[in-house]
Amino acid sequence: MKGKILALLKKSDEYVSGEWLSKEMGVSRTAIWKHINYLRQEGYKIESVPRLGYKILHIPDKLYAEEIYSLLTTNFIGKKIYHYNHLTSTNDQLKKLADEGKGEGTVVVAEQQTAGKGRLGRSWFSPPGAGIWCSVLLRPTVSPAHAPKLTLLGAVAVAEGIEKYTGLQPGIKWPNDLLVEGKKVCGLLTEMRAEVDSINYVTLGFGINIKLVDFPEEVKGKAITLEGVLGKKLNRVGLLACILNAFEKNYLLFLSKGFSPIRGKWEELNVTLGKMVTVTSHSGTVSGEAVALGDGGGLVVRTDGDELKEFLSGEVTLSR
Ligand code: BTN
Repeated sequence: MKGKILALLKKSDEYVSGEWLSKEMGVSRTAIWKHINYLRQEGYKIESVPRLGYKILHIPDKLYAEEIYSLLTTNFIGKKIYHYNHLTSTNDQLKKLADEGKGEGTVVVAEQQTAGKGRLGRSWFSPPGAGIWCSVLLRPTVSPAHAPKLTLLGAVAVAEGIEKYTGLQPGIKWPNDLLVEGKKVCGLLTEMRAEVDSINYVTLGFGINIKLVDFPEEVKGKAITLEGVLGKKLNRVGLLACILNAFEKNYLLFLSKGFSPIRGKWEELNVTLGKMVTVTSHSGTVSGEAVALGDGGGLVVRTDGDELKEFLSGEVTLSR
């Protein structure tokens, strides 16, 4: 109802009468008035002039589901979006919804995360309205061994969405950091509930730094924001819709054709292969040349001792 009223108001440059709205929607004028007030409470500025009707003057800078729906071209990704002003973590909230049985493609998005999670047990700085903190629910019928490929797929999709919407082409640092001007603009965190041989669900979360903020000391100098690079304001709704559209396209490609087309795109976008790297993993630190993406999505490194080693997780530092 809210979404439909919004769509009708946005379509018109003129005032839209309450009577016309109520006929169009098949509800009473009081119901229309009530919903207009809900919208106002959410930050929409809607003027109402007696005998003329309603006119929308301002749309709040929030990642409201109705705003995103209106820009989606997908069949299932983002068909149900849960928006929150604040959450501990969108991944954690999505896991709760997944445990309740919510379907593939369900999306959770928050203006702020109070305990945003990064990879390797780190935290993710997620101040209010400053970025896109979002998680997508997948229920692929593939074995858990394929899960790392989904993170790589996510990185490709977010990179494509960013490129389509802003013209910037982020590079992917293995496994899934997106870099612009050599600094991190986005990170992805994939979590999964699985049996030995089947995935129950995957929550694929991504955080994109958008507005200029004072980053915490530990990431200062390593992180960057899209608005900082572009030097202008960015519409988060438009960007997120573009990413979700790219997400579904790549996911369908993965389901129908396997990982190879995604691998091709990842290789095109990556800034890791062919570089000297230092990989820190639970088994220690190794330096060498990053030479390939392994079959399971790991990073193959030719060590300084001329040995080929594949890492399935870890932190990569690009040396030169
Ligand atoms: C990393 O680079 O370390 C991964 C960062 C992932 C951050 C996103 S923000 C949305 C989702 N919810 C979380 O708690 N984390 C991910």
